[in-house]
Amino acid sequence: MKSFTTFVFILLSLFSALVYALPLNERNVEARDVFVPPVTYPHQGTIWLAGAHYDVTWETNDAPVNITNSIGQIYLRVGEETWLNTTLASGFNIRDGTVRVQAPKVPTGIDYSLVLFGDSGNFSPEFTIINGWL
Ligand SMILES: *[C@@H]1O[C@H](CO)[C@@H](O)[C@H](O)[C@H]1NC(C)=O
Ligand SMILES: *[C@@H]1O[C@H](CO)[C@@H](O)[C@H](O)[C@H]1NC(C)=O
Repeated sequence: MKSFTTFVFILLSLFSALVYALPLNERNVEARDVFVPPVTYPHQGTIWLAGAHYDVTWETNDAPVNITNSIGQIYLRVGEETWLNTTLASGFNIRDGTVRVQAPKVPTGIDYSLVLFGDSGNFSPEFTIINGWL
């Protein structure tokens, strides 16, 4: 379990490195077929244990036929600030409606939300991350 966790962590780090290598996509702001899927999990009152895995979910019913950018990314957000240094998931299809992520080790006592990027950033309600086994 320990080495698996380490493996996943390394994988996530690699993903982060890849994401950093890409230019941030500003064109989404002006896209026509913008798909802003509501995040359904985590919701208000959700508590995550750092190190544990969870399935983030969002609605895909309203997805337009042609999505400008269907490659999804998930980051943490605190207040008005998206933490680009904390990539929870990337490279998945925004039409999937779900992706498994590992709760990161982050300072406790802060309200976090998730930003789901595809076409456009969409925020989950605020939830809590507490110390687990990371
Ligand atoms: C979606 O894209 C295809 C191929 O570019 C195009 O033929 C089609 O008309 C588009 N559909 C909509 C609803 O925009
Ligand atoms: C990530 O970025 C946020 C906001 O800039 C910062 O508060 C936080 O300390 C950073 N975390 C790490 C691990 O660098």
